[in-house]
Amino acid sequence: MAAPHPPRTADHWWRDAVIYQVYPRSFADGDGDGIGDLAGARARLSHLADLGVDAVWFTPWYASPMVDGGYDVADYRAIDPAFGTLEEAEKLIAQAAEMGIRVIVDIVPNHVSDQHPWFRAAVEAGPGSPERELFHFRPGRGEHGELPPNDWPSQFAGPTWTRVPDGEWYLHLFTPEQPDLNWDHPAVRREHEDILRFWFERGVAGVRIDSAALLVKDPALADFQEGVDAHPYIDQDGLHDIYRSWRAIADEYGAVFVGEVWLPDAERFARYLRPDELHTAFNFTFLTCPWEPDRLRAAIDDTLAEHAPVGAPATWVLCNHDVTRTVTRYGREDTAFDFATKAFGTPTDLDLGTRRARAAALLTLALPGSVYLYQGEELGLPEAEVPRDRIQDPMHFRSGGTDPGRDGCRIPLPWNADAPHAGFGSRDEPWLPQPAGWAAYAVDRQSDDPESMLTLYRRALLLRRTEKGFGDGPLTWLPAPEGVLAFGRPHGLLCVVNLSATPVELPPHERLLLCSGTLTPDGRLPADTAVWLRG
Ligand code: GLC
Ligand code: MG
Repeated sequence: MAAPHPPRTADHWWRDAVIYQVYPRSFADGDGDGIGDLAGARARLSHLADLGVDAVWFTPWYASPMVDGGYDVADYRAIDPAFGTLEEAEKLIAQAAEMGIRVIVDIVPNHVSDQHPWFRAAVEAGPGSPERELFHFRPGRGEHGELPPNDWPSQFAGPTWTRVPDGEWYLHLFTPEQPDLNWDHPAVRREHEDILRFWFERGVAGVRIDSAALLVKDPALADFQEGVDAHPYIDQDGLHDIYRSWRAIADEYGAVFVGEVWLPDAERFARYLRPDELHTAFNFTFLTCPWEPDRLRAAIDDTLAEHAPVGAPATWVLCNHDVTRTVTRYGREDTAFDFATKAFGTPTDLDLGTRRARAAALLTLALPGSVYLYQGEELGLPEAEVPRDRIQDPMHFRSGGTDPGRDGCRIPLPWNADAPHAGFGSRDEPWLPQPAGWAAYAVDRQSDDPESMLTLYRRALLLRRTEKGFGDGPLTWLPAPEGVLAFGRPHGLLCVVNLSATPVELPPHERLLLCSGTLTPDGRLPADTAVWLRG
């Protein structure tokens, strides 16, 4: 087992870090009530140290009615009672630091919960009040104001406006329980700057910014016009000013940002990564890319090319709490990710998907930049099909029940194969049911198995930390047979991924560092397999 590694002292740790995403509700249950919590997370930090990650990102752990899994925040300065207390969070941050693991928190600036005191006061105070100016309240259209103020499309299915009893409507790009804040209001800006300081003061090393490209709205709230360049609420120019002021605060603490920026336009995306704005942003081009050699190579090239001019490192992500788990996605006919094509009952070859996910792990970890791992990815957990009567995700309900939603990637983790609920820690049934066979993926079952996904990840992360050539730095494509991706990194490090249907010869090398599968008896690299070599 890998010994706890010393913290990276360099200021630029984030340029090539491996960051583990914890969805606290489903990570580990410390008090046995069926919901994961901070006590559970503290007790399992050693798993992250053994795995060898540099940092851990917690999705929102704040006081919340949990309509959208905590992305509906009622109080940014309090921990939700189901998760624990502020003191518990402070202990967790300190304990992680002792193990050399930094903590990143998730800030959701686009909206708050409808139970947030600001929103409750706004509803109470009535039309024309200063309280309403913190949100987007408007009279409706139509003879009696019975129609929503504009036609903006929602980020989830369903309407973007909801009417309050006095007749005004308020804007919510997500659920009605997530009213959008008015970022033109100075109090909204001040409050968020203060929240950043609150968490930086508590020793967090970074902040993930939720829905980072949505905060600023066209002030006219004009109808959505197809074919017009500027979208009324995505990627508005005013955002950059906000992130410049945030960057100045982060710099005081040596903290970093990672933005959730879903933007197809590479040039517009890179603007968020200018030296006085965000340090990094998630790379959704790579996450949504199918398991096809030409597409992957193009996604890698485009990513590196768009980051280079602003000097920001790329991030690489294969899955998160919003998307289909990797082994499942790669085992389907359509290996791309798209919210629009999610469906119940999609046929899946999990053996094939797992082989590819193992190869993708080595590919991803060999690329220049930082890597995000989503809890359970290191266990090779598949997407679960959650019984309809147990689904909690609002995306499912707002689609009218056609979209299975995101609960399938949020199933409570299996830790001990022989314990109740696979060692998640709950006395009773966990908040989402674990499917049959879940215990086979348990951490203790995989720990001593040389062939397991967990062993592959532990070895890969150890090599990435101890061998030369990984992380930041140049990447050079090497000549390779059709369907094969081969590239060199500094110090003769080579990565070869075979996406063709037949085994291929390895390039000349001195040493084989790691293989995601088993070479053929004559030393060739099988289909859907990757290898790290020292040339
Ligand atoms: C982000 C989160 C997602 C959440 C949404 C609204 O996309 O990742 O889980 O539902 O924002 O806050
Ligand atoms: Mg609990």
